[in-house]
Amino acid sequence: MLILGIETSCDETAAAVVADGRRVLSSVVATQFEVHAQYGGVVPELAARRHLESILPVIQGALDQAGVSGPEIDGLAVTQGPGLIGALVIGMAVGKALALAWNRPLVGVHHLQAHILAAFLTENPPEFPFVALVVSGGHTNLYQVHDFQQMTLLGRSRDDAAGEAFDKVAKLLRLGYPGGVIIEKLAAQGNPEAFHLPRPRIPEEPLTFSFSGLKTAVAHQVTKNPEILTNLSVQADLAAGFQEAVVDSLVSRAFLALDSAKATRLVVSGGVAANGRLRQVLQDKAAADGIALFLPPLSLCTDNAAMVAAAGYYRLLAGERLDMSADVFSRG
Ligand code: KG4
Ligand code: ZN
Repeated sequence: MLILGIETSCDETAAAVVADGRRVLSSVVATQFEVHAQYGGVVPELAARRHLESILPVIQGALDQAGVSGPEIDGLAVTQGPGLIGALVIGMAVGKALALAWNRPLVGVHHLQAHILAAFLTENPPEFPFVALVVSGGHTNLYQVHDFQQMTLLGRSRDDAAGEAFDKVAKLLRLGYPGGVIIEKLAAQGNPEAFHLPRPRIPEEPLTFSFSGLKTAVAHQVTKNPEILTNLSVQADLAAGFQEAVVDSLVSRAFLALDSAKATRLVVSGGVAANGRLRQVLQDKAAADGIALFLPPLSLCTDNAAMVAAAGYYRLLAGERLDMSADVFSRG
């Protein structure tokens, strides 16, 4: 069964063809970072316009790379939310139009579920149940995952998402956008012990994350000592200290969630899961604690449409269909 996935929730225009929810035949991602870089963050209006320009060539590229024609597709899956409304509606409109033109079923996919189900596009997919940590630009959520559709939220961030914190700190240090990759590179040359940054905990909510205090602590260091902005080695130390604090927060809560859910399998996905330091610490801790860790490759961690096609496959199998009047949603 061939599924065409379409993803336009934020600043990547993506399309992919996936066979049987498992084999990626093609995955095309058109990033827009050059559009948003000068503003230090995603500008929703510009994102929507760029999606409109890119979506049809990206879909054509995905079909061509997979070596299939449109009508050979058995079904379509489109990200319905959460995300930027103006961006989501472009993918939704195109998904509906193609479903009608080719007379094929269409399903709507939850973006965070898609991030989790990216783990099924790897050689060694997890068995249910497992705990999943989704760490992206918009979310830091912990779930207990029962099957392809049912997931219980165990914890989330009460303020900034982890990726958002990376982006904001990069902006504070005047490093550019998107922040995750830039901070990771700089942190590799820094000493994570040089600055002691907070690791906020909420005792009565042990699985709740909080990153805004960390961002404020970095801002405070910069205000106290503006030379940081011009001294690359101090900047690297601050980046390393920040990254270590985020990694600590993420890893400690993920393992606490495994404990409280009595689970032995952990999936970590979303853009921040591309971070090398996070992957290393997770691998070490999983090996020490006897936890089976599932980390999709980088291209499946950051936004892509293969994960949308995979998530859509199980919805189509379950008989779900999207009504032609269905709308997108921004939160949830
Ligand atoms: O999942 P994603 O591609 O899009 C959303 O759904 O938000 O995640 C994007 C986020 C951005 O905040 C970006 O800075 C962060 O993931 N990110 C990283 C890395 N690569 C991307 N954060 C830390 N280290 C990375 N290597
Ligand atoms: Zn995402």
